[in-house]
Amino acid sequence: MTVLEHTPIFPEFRRYFYMLLQLLMMDEWGAGTGVLVMASVAAATWYFLSRPKPEKPLVPLDRQSFLQPGTEMIRVSKFYKDSKEGKFVSCLSEDAKTLYETFRKGAKLSNNGKCLGWREGPGKPYQWLHYNETLLRARNFGCGLMAIGLQPGPNTFVGIYSQNCPEWILVEQGAYCFSMVIVPLYDTLGPDACSFIIAQAEIAVVICEDDGKCNMLLERAPRFLRRIIIIKDASPATRQRAKNRGIEILRFDEIEKLGASRSTAEVPPKPSDLCTICYTSGTTGNPKGVMLSHENVVAGVCSVMLQLGEHRPNGNDTMISFLPLAHMLERCCENGMYLVGGAVGFYSGDITRLADDLKTLKPTVTPAVPRLLNRIYDKVMAEVNSSFIKKMLFNMGLNSKHKELAKGIIRRDSFWDKTVFKKVQESMGGRLRLMVVGSAPLAGNVLTFARCALGCLIVEGYGQTECCAPITLTVQGDHVPEHVGPPVACCCVKLVDVPEMEYFANMNQGEVCVKGTNVFQGYFKNQDQTALTIDELGWHHTGDIGQWQPNGTLKIIDRKKHIFKLSQGEYIVPEKIENIYIRSQYVHQVFVHGESLKSCIIAIVVPDVDVVKSWALENGIEGTLSVLCNHPEVKKLIMDDMITWGKESGLKSFEQVKDIYLHPDPFSIQNGLLTPTFKTKRPQLKAYFKPQLEDMYAKLT
Ligand SMILES: *[C@@H]1O[C@H](CO)[C@@H](O)[C@H](O)[C@H]1NC(C)=O
Ligand SMILES: *[C@@H]1O[C@H](CO)[C@@H](O)[C@H](O)[C@H]1NC(C)=O
Ligand SMILES: *[C@@H]1O[C@H](CO)[C@@H](O)[C@H](O)[C@H]1NC(C)=O
Ligand SMILES: *[C@@H]1O[C@H](CO)[C@@H](O)[C@H](O)[C@H]1NC(C)=O
Repeated sequence: MTVLEHTPIFPEFRRYFYMLLQLLMMDEWGAGTGVLVMASVAAATWYFLSRPKPEKPLVPLDRQSFLQPGTEMIRVSKFYKDSKEGKFVSCLSEDAKTLYETFRKGAKLSNNGKCLGWREGPGKPYQWLHYNETLLRARNFGCGLMAIGLQPGPNTFVGIYSQNCPEWILVEQGAYCFSMVIVPLYDTLGPDACSFIIAQAEIAVVICEDDGKCNMLLERAPRFLRRIIIIKDASPATRQRAKNRGIEILRFDEIEKLGASRSTAEVPPKPSDLCTICYTSGTTGNPKGVMLSHENVVAGVCSVMLQLGEHRPNGNDTMISFLPLAHMLERCCENGMYLVGGAVGFYSGDITRLADDLKTLKPTVTPAVPRLLNRIYDKVMAEVNSSFIKKMLFNMGLNSKHKELAKGIIRRDSFWDKTVFKKVQESMGGRLRLMVVGSAPLAGNVLTFARCALGCLIVEGYGQTECCAPITLTVQGDHVPEHVGPPVACCCVKLVDVPEMEYFANMNQGEVCVKGTNVFQGYFKNQDQTALTIDELGWHHTGDIGQWQPNGTLKIIDRKKHIFKLSQGEYIVPEKIENIYIRSQYVHQVFVHGESLKSCIIAIVVPDVDVVKSWALENGIEGTLSVLCNHPEVKKLIMDDMITWGKESGLKSFEQVKDIYLHPDPFSIQNGLLTPTFKTKRPQLKAYFKPQLEDMYAKLT
């Protein structure tokens, strides 16, 4: 008896026993009970046979970062001993300080192993380009660019507009052979932004995936664009269209052949040279070009490698590439794989076929975004909900694996892995051992589910393009979700006061500020914006609000909002007020506006068509939405409801609107009033509704 009490499974047995008794009371569950009994016994037996060993965390989990002495409360990584002296990791070895060198190091380590993989179509196997051939073809492509007249050096910008594919990497490495800079273009930027980027960076050559993307470029091609190098071929009509605009279309393989026949001496980059300009679409105005040097990216990649310890990718790993290469998360992950000589297999280019690609490639490493994990979670939940027995087994499995996780055990060979979670694991190829999640907040229950069900190490990072991706990363062994871990070894992090939102650094809350080898060189040709984000002492102000937890990990709790002061000195956070008014059933969209010379705020409201129309019908008011928008009773109805919501939610009286203007047409991406991620573009809205806003203020005074 005493022996049993000290074995870890005894309490579980006791619990199952009671559960079974309860189930036996219900006859209809008889058969199911049998299954559950067998499952419990089998799980217990299995546990004893396999005896999993917990891992020892690399840092004490109750003190995950180091607090530097001083009043600024700066925190640094514990994975690099010199970080206490204010030093940051910029590389892991002297012979790999640029993305040109890291790739060659990986090529050597892998001994000409598999490098880039692709499939010809569904049902086909992966084909591989090995390291030596990749390097040769990249070099040929780079020589080809020289042959058509590009200048070597970090002042030459090469555009690339393509989904992930082997050619993307050939272009990247080809450009680095001659110290040129990669500028990715991507669909969600929209044609206007693409055209702005080509003009701002004076891009003469864009490597373009196919006919469709080529036409997108031709639509609004600025005069700087001289040549398009197309990976798949262009139609005769497209070629003619390009010709009419004085743009030459060349084929990718033509450039490679040209380069092979006209070899030029390479001009490798220095660590301080730019390697990429990564444009991000902001909520205001034109996209901003984040300038990143080779050192920035190598530092970001290496600090993550350092923190992953023995779990870091190695030459035996295969990664699936499906997140856009235009974003730094994917670029960093891939360059990490190339650094260690691992293999990267590209998805087919169609996200609906990703499952099939995963099953064929069987990756061991993958980057991921919360959206993907949420989808897996929802799918599993829907299936589990469909049957009582499935749900019971699932919950038993999840509980058991969660307990193991809390002890630091990560594995894929428990009883529950072989039964309940086998299907989820196989949907990811069945060999996954490392997943790096980033780019957006991830719900705690989904992360814990993924950790239990996939049985691989899942670390969650927090980052920004301006920091080349990673700022913080969770530590292996910490199974608690809903934080983003300690700072990585290439930077230090401090929080600064945001008094208007009542966040104070001495309360361990404030705007996240970052300094280190991963912090970008500034926004391209945009000193004003650069000065707004990087201060004189080199701190990059992220705009995110963080909170330090007692164990030295960071939690992102808010976003610094657009804020202004009214003439009587009160602070207004318009987004907070909008989020309250939007709860009114009559309100479809709302834009709250105020000015420092005025003492009150006003709003533009797009009413909810259906609700307002049905109200009008009941109240005998006729007309289209435009007519209703001008009807005083409709306006009173909506404004009264908004004010009621405001009162209920505790808005102070100066936080309530004093007048509204009803507008029938929604704010949209097309009319330029929303960003591609559906955030309101405040300066554009202000400009667009200038007459109405002025009119309202005129009537109020
Ligand atoms: C790959 O390239 C390296 C360096 O050029 C060379 O030493 C090696 O022999 C090559 N491997 C194969 C298999 O061709
Ligand atoms: C890679 O696999 C080989 C052969 O199985 C093995 O000898 C080697 O230790 C592995 N390398 C790493 C870093 O795991
Ligand atoms: C599954 O059932 C739970 C409650 O039993 C519910 O909260 C959840 O929304 C359901 N999920 C799905 C995907 O049906
Ligand atoms: C870190 O601190 C937070 C907040 O106190 C706590 O919820 C969490 O469990 C701690 N993490 C670990 C691994 O102990």
